[in-house]
Amino acid sequence: MDKTPLAPGFPANRPRRMRYQDFSRRLMRENRLSSDDLICPVFVIEGQGQQENIASMPGVSRLSIDLLLKEAEALLKLGVPAIALFPVIDPSQKSDTAAAAFDPNGLAQRCVRKLKTEFPELGIITDIALDPYTSHGQDGLIDSNGYVLNDETVAVLCQQALSHAEAGADIVAPSDMMDGRIGAIRSTLETHGFINTRILAYSAKYASSFYGPFRDAVGSAANLGSGNKYSYQMDPANSDEALTEIALDLQEGADMIMVKPGMPYLDIIRRAKDRFGVPTFAYQVSGEYAMLKAAALNGWLDEKQVVLESLLAFKRAGSDAVLTYYAKAAAQWLQESR
Ligand code: PBG
Repeated sequence: MDKTPLAPGFPANRPRRMRYQDFSRRLMRENRLSSDDLICPVFVIEGQGQQENIASMPGVSRLSIDLLLKEAEALLKLGVPAIALFPVIDPSQKSDTAAAAFDPNGLAQRCVRKLKTEFPELGIITDIALDPYTSHGQDGLIDSNGYVLNDETVAVLCQQALSHAEAGADIVAPSDMMDGRIGAIRSTLETHGFINTRILAYSAKYASSFYGPFRDAVGSAANLGSGNKYSYQMDPANSDEALTEIALDLQEGADMIMVKPGMPYLDIIRRAKDRFGVPTFAYQVSGEYAMLKAAALNGWLDEKQVVLESLLAFKRAGSDAVLTYYAKAAAQWLQESR
């Protein structure tokens, strides 16, 4: 920085010059958000023409398959590349063994088959975890003390992932945090010929209180009761541990990794991207949606502006794509501003 000193009283540099007009702000913009970056999570229920509101997530509903197809078509038209399915299982189908999780005619499997038939170009991501199917609301099988059993759970997760791949899922996304599940699922898929089924590993999934509205939405909150997931999901205090989890999942064959929740964990996204440089996704979870929505509904925040800012922040932090309940709205806003 060998510069002729300016007369005293003038700043040597004026970063504001570049911000002075829109054209130079655009030229120096480092990150951009597009509909290509968005993945829309959707809650599905049995029935026809059914749409149920979720009290803690205004604007998000549970949809029966026929309405899911309409939603998928709308998302596809808006340029959203993929959706993530979350089935809401009738309490009568829940059990200690979570057998409904790998039923070839289960709700998730039927959704996948329908979607792939109607919209083959839309990426379908399915959740691999047992919480929608267990009578106790945990992500895995439990012993008599309520402890979530690792290896026994992994065996069921493999059956679940295989049933989703058989139905046509493009990406299976284990969100359960059992040890060794990525390797086990990968080898199950490979040995059954599903060599192109991608695995999106929820590698750094924290034991977060931001999941509350999701548990209402899928109806696992009542089953879980006062239970918690501290013995398998990560401690929000930890950061190095996230890198260990990600390294293991990559060694075991993950194609993409996920950090979850999103906004409070942007530091983890940045560390993950810097260290591994692999496709890195983030999940702006239900509680984050609820916060933004509540403030917007109260007129306290400008919804469009804060949502697009929050999603851009994910890009800046290093995520390639974001799962967000705002996917459709954001894609619409982005389309309008083009
Ligand atoms: C469960 C699962 C959860 C979410 C996605 N998959 C909740 C949990 O771990 O209890 C949360 C998503 C959200 O809050 O939007 N396997």
